[in-house]
Amino acid sequence: MKPEYAGREQTLAKHFILEKYLQSLTFKLLLGGYSTLTYVDGFSGPWESRTDDYSDTSFMIAIRVLKDAQAQLRAQGKNKTIRCFFVEEKAKAYAQLHAAVMQHHDPARGFYVYTFHGKFEDAVDEIVKVVGTSFALTFIDPTGWTGYEFDKIARIMQHQPGEVLLNYMFDFINRFTAWDDVKITASFDGILGKDWRSRLDSTLARHEAVQALFAEELRKAGKFGHVLSTPIAKLSDRQHFSIVYGTRNAEGLATYREVEFSAMKAHGMHRHEAKQAMREAATGQADIFAMAGLQPPPPIETQVKGYRREARVWLLDQLRTQGRAFPFSAVWQAMIETFMLRRTDARQVCAELAKEGLIANTWRVNGSRKSTPGDDDIIGLTPPSITPGSDTATVAG
Ligand SMILES: C[S@@+](CC[C@H](N)C(=O)[O-])C[C@H]1O[C@@H](n2cnc3c(N)ncnc32)[C@H](O)[C@@H]1O
Repeated sequence: MKPEYAGREQTLAKHFILEKYLQSLTFKLLLGGYSTLTYVDGFSGPWESRTDDYSDTSFMIAIRVLKDAQAQLRAQGKNKTIRCFFVEEKAKAYAQLHAAVMQHHDPARGFYVYTFHGKFEDAVDEIVKVVGTSFALTFIDPTGWTGYEFDKIARIMQHQPGEVLLNYMFDFINRFTAWDDVKITASFDGILGKDWRSRLDSTLARHEAVQALFAEELRKAGKFGHVLSTPIAKLSDRQHFSIVYGTRNAEGLATYREVEFSAMKAHGMHRHEAKQAMREAATGQADIFAMAGLQPPPPIETQVKGYRREARVWLLDQLRTQGRAFPFSAVWQAMIETFMLRRTDARQVCAELAKEGLIANTWRVNGSRKSTPGDDDIIGLTPPSITPGSDTATVAG
């Protein structure tokens, strides 16, 4: 692990997801016909940076990824435009941000940098102007849960084509004292809606119910087709946050789950490293992690196996209750939105169910050598076999 992230494993995970997702998105969009991408960072910082060159901040990670992608495409003869818009409210942080990012403003090469000193919600008009008709990825990374009230930033979230990546801090809401504080609960109205407590799903644990309501409110406010959450655990004090992703695009959904998978793999590893280091510091003492009630997460591959088992049951149940078949494109989208799985897992789940005779194998017919379904292949239950005797007799009359 890079030393600047020691003790900040959750920031590392957040930066990893931002970097890898932005990289994939940029190449997909700009190779797929888009000429311009705008990256908007609503809460830029710097904040808790430990490097002289700000390489451990979201704004510098984004600039590096975007400049690098643009240069690679230019080398292939493809000239693309990139715009970045950074917002920071605190004067000192804004001065540092401005000095660092404006060095990269390079209109001659189609790389534009804009900054705004003030609140994110007050930057909406300027952001909308800069984004124009381009694709916009908006990164929202506040220190709490205010400053991005959905009605104030709706125009940014609803911009098409566009997507949102959001760092959702929800731990606080789980604390009993805050839960009972009228003023504090009201401060969540901007993201959870009025009377949000009465709209929580009472069948879920409180934090899950809040998370589900938040995803639903974000989906409505941004008019997103898909909303996904990646929960990230903080090692030291059991605080948590989630990276929440909103998109209207199925390919975005598939890409995000791929990035999330590699992030979880790396995150597990980093948690382990931190654990080792702390164990060493506490030589001769009892396991401080066990004392703190912290369990190391199982490896991501083990987690995926569990999700696949759940997804099998879920798919069979969907097919039974809906009483019809669906194209694989609809199945994988619904499955990976429901479970932390990738499109490849959805293919394997269908292939396994077909092997066991529980769903019909429609992809290996007419000489096809496909081992897993493609988007247009139909996923449906195997028709019940006819028992010789009874039904035949009826049909024969
Ligand atoms: C969590 S930090 C951002 C960290 C940064 N995204 C990163 O990963 O390196 C949040 C930043 O937003 C700033 N901020 C707080 N409220 C704001 C608001 N309403 N509008 C814009 N910036 C705000 C804070 O000063 C702080 O620098």
